[in-house]
Amino acid sequence: MGSRARPAASNVVTPTKGAPVSTVLRPVHADDLEAIAAIEQVAFSDPWSASAFADLMTYGHARTIVALDAAGEVLGYCVLLHVLDEGEIANIAVAPAFRGRGIAARLLDDALGAAVRMGLRSVFLEVRLSNEAARGLYGSRGFSSVGRRRGYYQDPLEDALILRWNAQASSESHVAAAGA
Ligand SMILES: CC(C)(COP(=O)(O)OP(=O)(O)OC[C@H]1O[C@@H](n2cnc3c(N)ncnc32)[C@H](O)[C@@H]1OP(=O)(O)O)[C@@H](O)C(=O)NCCC(=O)NCCS
Repeated sequence: MGSRARPAASNVVTPTKGAPVSTVLRPVHADDLEAIAAIEQVAFSDPWSASAFADLMTYGHARTIVALDAAGEVLGYCVLLHVLDEGEIANIAVAPAFRGRGIAARLLDDALGAAVRMGLRSVFLEVRLSNEAARGLYGSRGFSSVGRRRGYYQDPLEDALILRWNAQASSESHVAAAGA
């Protein structure tokens, strides 16, 4: 599976926590691609193009979900790739002005819920060592480190951590929490 878990562009400041914003999640439409590409430009130093997202729409093993505000504006998105019993969070980003409001958490929870329904056993991703926001997000959803790729990222050169989410461990922790 291709991999995508990149750094935030260096000029983007993650705001302090804001008030939760009400969002609707739904599968990506062709009309969303321009807005997604605009978020890519500010979220990543090596953004994907609108046509890369369009290609994903034709790929049976990709699930791209967007988060919209009440006016239908795209505030964020998440791409889950899945093959057999394995998944990968290939992309997730939120528009800078709307970060810290739980949007990525909703998108990731939705992707992991889909992973469970599809019978995936594990979901992997790669993340820059210095991407504290993303690492905080993944840690809060039960991802744990299973490896490190030295010098995986360019511009700037940096290691990637490989994180894994385990469906069984996650369901056990939910059962434990429910029984507590
Ligand atoms: C990473 C990113 C998607 C998080 O989006 P977000 O909508 O701001 O995240 P949320 O508000 O849903 O936060 C969910 C959890 O993530 C963690 N988190 C979010 N921002 C954080 C930060 N700046 N520092 C540390 N942890 C953070 C927290 O655990 C948070 O839970 P909490 O609010 O209960 O503490 C966003 O910063 C982004 O788009 N970054 C640029 C693109 C990117 O780096 N994508 C990931 C590539 S691996």
